[in-house]
Amino acid sequence: MDVDKVAERRGAKGPRKRSDTSGVGAPRVNMMRDFNETNATEAVLERQSGCKDPRIRQIAAAVITHLHAIVREVEPTMDEWMAAIEFLTRTGQMCDDTRQEFILLSDTLGVSMLVDAINNRKPSGATESTVLGPFHIAGAPRREMGDNISEDQKGEPVYVSGLVREQEGKPIGGASLDVWQTSSDGFYDIQDDRQPEMNLRGQFTTGADGCFFFRTIKPSSYPIPSDGTVGQMLRALGRHPMRPAHIHFIVSARGFEPVTTHVFVEGDEYLDSDAVFGVKQSLIIPFVRRDNAREAERVGVANPFYTAQYDFTLVRARRARAINQGEREVAE
Ligand code: BEZ
Ligand code: FE
Repeated sequence: MDVDKVAERRGAKGPRKRSDTSGVGAPRVNMMRDFNETNATEAVLERQSGCKDPRIRQIAAAVITHLHAIVREVEPTMDEWMAAIEFLTRTGQMCDDTRQEFILLSDTLGVSMLVDAINNRKPSGATESTVLGPFHIAGAPRREMGDNISEDQKGEPVYVSGLVREQEGKPIGGASLDVWQTSSDGFYDIQDDRQPEMNLRGQFTTGADGCFFFRTIKPSSYPIPSDGTVGQMLRALGRHPMRPAHIHFIVSARGFEPVTTHVFVEGDEYLDSDAVFGVKQSLIIPFVRRDNAREAERVGVANPFYTAQYDFTLVRARRARAINQGEREVAE
């Protein structure tokens, strides 16, 4: 879509004047033959009345009603409507095995985080979830506790540690942590030929004490891919593509609801304007700078270094299901 041109034109002219669509005094019409501004939504809804699946019927009705409401509110010109179709077409054309522009669109419109929030309601104290993002790779190397996930050790060293525990505080042994992050200049290994394969990725399993610890380098804030339709949209909307620095985790354990989340670096300049709305206060942690050669040697990093500490609290799978099911029923 030429969003720039569309925005310019709208900005210059403002919204179009509404036509009189009240239909007051109009003769009765057969809406299936005389589909018009007034009866359009009712006519299309009526056409789905034979749908046997109540969930599909509910979703289709919502999509139709809201789409029609947008069109009535915005009153697009034919050129604008075509521009929207072309925007979506090009979004689809950008997708392949490694690029999913529609998910990026959902992320940047806050839809991914809204779906995530609806499906991951948590009791207080449980680790909150956030977006998965496009840079996770299944099958990252299995590593021992204490290993360094930075294969090239380019960047400021960080010692990350914490506990995986139940809500009542009991440590969870045998929990798995799948970890990935950017380099110090803001690229994931799969975006950057200069990095070794599987750089800054690893899978760890906690022992009976539920503890985890590993070495890495300080991640950096970075732009989401902005060479496609999503980038074009962000520019048209006066938005930047940046995400605040973070480390991704998927934490799972038998009998518990897995959590897909990040920890964010406290003080990052993009914490309040994350391009994909993924930040939660409870996930922001200090990366504390230490200048202590003995301590650095003990944990196996160069001095000075940073420490970052976070405890993951998982919810029993049955409890998580009950909460989400219950909330859904209340909402219905
Ligand atoms: C990420 O954190 O890797 C990410 C999340 C959503 C969109 C793009 C990137
Ligand atoms: Fe990320």
